Amino acid sequence: LDNGLARTPPMGWMQWQRFRCNLNCKDDPDNCISERLFMQIADAMASNGYRDAGYQYVSIDDCWMLPERGPDGRLQPDPARFPSGIKALADYIHSKGLRLGIYADMGLHTCKLYPGSKFYLQTDAETFASWGVDMLKLDCCWAGGLEDLETGYQVMEFFLNQSTRVTNRPILYACSWPACSGSQTKYKLVAQHCNMWRNFVDIRDDWSYVYNTIDFYGNNTYGFREVAGPGNWNDPDELSIGNFGLSEDQERAHFGMWCMMASPMFMSNDVRHIRKSSQQLLLNKNLIAINQDPLGIQAYRLSKSSNGMETWIKPMSGSRYAIAALLSNDYGSPVWFTSTLADLGLNATAGYRITEAFENQFMGKYLPSDTLRLLVNPTGIQIVVAETIQQ
Ligand code: GLA
Repeated sequence: LDNGLARTPPMGWMQWQRFRCNLNCKDDPDNCISERLFMQIADAMASNGYRDAGYQYVSIDDCWMLPERGPDGRLQPDPARFPSGIKALADYIHSKGLRLGIYADMGLHTCKLYPGSKFYLQTDAETFASWGVDMLKLDCCWAGGLEDLETGYQVMEFFLNQSTRVTNRPILYACSWPACSGSQTKYKLVAQHCNMWRNFVDIRDDWSYVYNTIDFYGNNTYGFREVAGPGNWNDPDELSIGNFGLSEDQERAHFGMWCMMASPMFMSNDVRHIRKSSQQLLLNKNLIAINQDPLGIQAYRLSKSSNGMETWIKPMSGSRYAIAALLSNDYGSPVWFTSTLADLGLNATAGYRITEAFENQFMGKYLPSDTLRLLVNPTGIQIVVAETIQQ
């Protein structure tokens, strides 16, 4: 979608994977879905380096609404949990140098059965714009068939565009359309009308979910890789880094692959309380630079071998290539990745300067006939950047 937003993959924080639909503010006031949660997350993002590393959006997900629309037909936040209202929350988030995202659903209800936007698209677009919201995640539960999805998402884009012309605050449009239309998705049409879109199942704090998502991207079954680029991004869902279910290597592989895939980078974690190693990973400048490369090319999977070793390549600006060796399985021991550069498709006669990405360690100059050797931990990753030497 060409609305000036998301020229590189958008970055931020999103409620769902970590905080779900927690309504229990009585017993769990710090973690229930309330304005207090989003304000505290924004505070932590501003003071602990996330905002300055590029994480911009703080995004509300499902379960912020009252179960009914108001007498004026508008969506209303639950006043017990959002006593100041969404406009005040947006003002607060903006005062921290961040942007606010909100959630609605194209269908009759949201996935958690709050009011849906079907028959209210114009009203809801106007409401979100008038609140000063910067991003809309529009889900597709209860949305109907292919025609409803195709028409509905385009109509909402029209109303968002109309409403934000008045407020002069464009709204990043995150669609779930392909996740609901599957094999029938017209990806070019999606890319024309959305800034980012979900194409696969919800991520969970579990390696098998992380890897199945990566594998789906590697298969590129419906040819969605090709439509990614400035303004439009495939969205493999949130980053579950700093939570409970992933090892340090799995977090590295998760983060590294989201960078390789030019994915939107929405953390879903508790940035108020997080392990140092997870925080350092999320703030890794070299990795973020791979994700934010201005060409915006999504990595492709060059090979997948029977021992679980995969090779991924992301062409980057400045005649550079990010190369990832991902070991998907957990068969005990680290495994050597070995390949000549020529076998990776890197054939420049003067060769390449190769740098390890996580620690930014220069590894040396390599000719196409030279062999790159990387030791990869089970469910882990190594990433290097190869810069073409001009002759
Ligand atoms: C769907 C979406 C999730 C989340 C939930 C909320 O499952 O895919 O990302 O928004 O709905 O109910």
